[in-house]
Amino acid sequence: MQNAITLAITGASGAQYGLRLLQVLSQHSLPVYCLLSDAARVVLRAEVNPDFPLDHAALPEFLQQHSDVDIRHVIFPTQHDWFSCVASGSAAPRQMVICPCSMGTLAAVAHGLSDNLIERAADVVLKERGTLILVPREAPLSQIHLQNMLTLAQAGAVILPAAPGFYLQPQSIDDLVDTLVQRILDQLGIAVTLAARWGAVR
Ligand SMILES: Cc1cc2nc3c(=O)[nH]c(=O)nc-3n(C[C@H](O)[C@H](O)[C@H](O)COP(=O)(O)O)c2cc1C
Repeated sequence: MQNAITLAITGASGAQYGLRLLQVLSQHSLPVYCLLSDAARVVLRAEVNPDFPLDHAALPEFLQQHSDVDIRHVIFPTQHDWFSCVASGSAAPRQMVICPCSMGTLAAVAHGLSDNLIERAADVVLKERGTLILVPREAPLSQIHLQNMLTLAQAGAVILPAAPGFYLQPQSIDDLVDTLVQRILDQLGIAVTLAARWGAVR
């Protein structure tokens, strides 16, 4: 489904960004292929909900009940579902976001490892000259992290760090999350407004 969006949530801190993006995309009836790494589930349990399911089959219902995700618009391939359309340039969506993106996944994508469906889907989007947005989170950044990000930027990916601005005067964590998710939606060309824009506040 080429007008769909692939959203991968990996095991970096900031799981809320990925969940909010999934919620917004699905609530606007945008078809999403949602890929979760094993580490993402661990982080989701640590940061969002200790009951977040490790069992793949339980994922859709849990997300619908606890995160207001409209699962009618979301497909959840497993990490090794090589028959998913995201694995092939002949059918994969042309837009993909990895949010949040761990340094492990970032390194794997930078070096074309394609060892699981997230890495392969990102590799496909790069080779097809689509839009690949990575939302990395780490602090501080090592030379290896920075080199991998440069490699990806040179390959055409967008590096959009999980670093929300404070200049729009966020009042809550939800506001901060939306500040970042808004920038991702803007990069995707999706006309949804979650957060105020510069010039509109004073
Ligand atoms: C609570 C928690 C927070 C983590 N935060 C980060 C992080 O901010 N950035 C990062 O690169 N890795 C972070 N990690 C480590 C990654 O989860 C780990 O490297 C994992 O292998 C990444 O796998 P994945 O890329 O398949 O999701 C964190 C792990 C846990 C459990």
